[in-house]
Amino acid sequence: MKSQESPRKLPNQTPTLRVIPMPADTNAEGDIFGGWLLSQMDLAGASEAYQYVGNRIVTVGVDSMNFHKPVFVGDEVSFFTDIRKVGKTSIAIHVEAWARGRMDHEYRMVTEGVFTFVSIGRDRQPREINRKC
Ligand SMILES: CC(C)(COP(=O)(O)OP(=O)(O)OC[C@H]1O[C@@H](n2cnc3c(N)ncnc32)[C@H](O)[C@@H]1OP(=O)(O)O)[C@@H](O)C(=O)NCCC(=O)NCCS
Repeated sequence: MKSQESPRKLPNQTPTLRVIPMPADTNAEGDIFGGWLLSQMDLAGASEAYQYVGNRIVTVGVDSMNFHKPVFVGDEVSFFTDIRKVGKTSIAIHVEAWARGRMDHEYRMVTEGVFTFVSIGRDRQPREINRKC
């Protein structure tokens, strides 16, 4: 079903991560592999979460993951992040990926999802988040 929502706007912020996918990142059809995108989103989300938490974190869940449009070799992909929720030991980060076409330079929103990270101690057990700032 086509979404009735108005078109999304390119976030007015510095991306947490910006990457250009290469031929090694494609699936059997030649488009960029979904797993590659997921791992970049996980990295971007972890970077945002780590800035807030300030100690070791691990990914515990991925929700609301949507692949809206394909990504192609040579696109410039920017990952924008924002904190959605901070719990006792967990932090949820919304990650949006926008691709800029190599030839047309047009931006399009390609994927989004919410990544949850848990703060852990040396014993690998959940550790309470003490806000740094
Ligand atoms: C992360 C881990 C230490 C949590 O241990 P746990 O015993 O399940 O911890 P808890 O049940 O106390 O949950 C801890 C927090 O995570 C949240 N959580 C647990 N599972 C979740 C899920 N699937 N989605 C979202 N949040 C989740 C809980 O709500 C809780 O949040 P809060 O403290 O802010 O209220 C453990 O699950 C683990 O080691 N997982 C493997 C992590 C990993 O290897 N990731 C991949 C590589 S980074």
